[in-house]
Amino acid sequence: MASPRLADKVAIVTGAASGIGRASAIRFAREGARVVIADINTSGGEHTAASIKQAGGEARFSYCDVSDSENVQQVVDDVVTSFGRIDILFANAAYLDELFAVAETSEVVWERHIGVTLTGVYLCCKYVIPHMIQAGGGSILATSSVGGSVAFDGQAAYCTAKAGVEMLMKTIARDYGRSGVRANAIAPGAVYTPVMDDVKRRNPDGWDQVLRDMSLLERLWAEPEDIAAAAAYLVSDEAAFVTGTVLTVDGGWTAH
Ligand SMILES: NC(=O)c1ccc[n+]([C@@H]2O[C@H](COP(=O)([O-])OP(=O)(O)OC[C@H]3O[C@@H](n4cnc5c(N)ncnc54)[C@H](O)[C@@H]3O)[C@@H](O)[C@H]2O)c1
Repeated sequence: MASPRLADKVAIVTGAASGIGRASAIRFAREGARVVIADINTSGGEHTAASIKQAGGEARFSYCDVSDSENVQQVVDDVVTSFGRIDILFANAAYLDELFAVAETSEVVWERHIGVTLTGVYLCCKYVIPHMIQAGGGSILATSSVGGSVAFDGQAAYCTAKAGVEMLMKTIARDYGRSGVRANAIAPGAVYTPVMDDVKRRNPDGWDQVLRDMSLLERLWAEPEDIAAAAAYLVSDEAAFVTGTVLTVDGGWTAH
């Protein structure tokens, strides 16, 4: 029997207390990885870790604010001390609140978006990459969004940060490819996660119409597991020749 795709890999997944990160952590563990759930939501993170352990997988929660350099460095160091290496980084956490057009975006709100969504990915990569190089390589995946390449109404800071995330992955692919480090981004469309639940509840009719205009499929929303499946491929050795790319998982939204 073939061994699981991520057998014995050590993976850090940020933002894994909820939504796409949680589904991906569960999927990576099911595929054999030992998973570190890094998030600011302790109860959600512990819940993800418990679900994985209950299913027979290996996981642990580490409190990590990705916008805090010292915190990220300490989590990365702890993982290396405990497991000896880091094979996979899925930098998925983002700031998903306070979305405005640029003139309505205060400097504080702008800094929050850039600080978590873009600098947070940079910090994780900055501290993980030297360990990956030392171990002969690794795979980095960051969550972008369709909003990283298509401007959304009233989401100036979010879209700008996501565009930055995509370019950051390309620069990492270029700078560290020959050291065995691959770096890619995944760009979801509309995914039914708790954050979208709130958005939809506030404007149920409006959202359904928007989604009907976007999806080319009968199904309007992606489930977090749809993104997790694509993520598991990208971080696995099956994607060994895939680097510097953005995989869009949007039900065809940006195809038209
Ligand atoms: N849901 C969608 O439709 C959609 C679409 C495109 C892209 N995305 C992207 O997918 C990713 C996950 O979003 P989601 O929909 O699963 O949202 P979610 O709210 O379910 O999960 C986000 C997680 O990030 C964590 N987080 C927030 N700030 C953090 C910080 N400073 N440090 C560490 N963790 C932090 C939260 O606690 C939460 O667990 C994000 O990058 C988001 O931009 C989502």
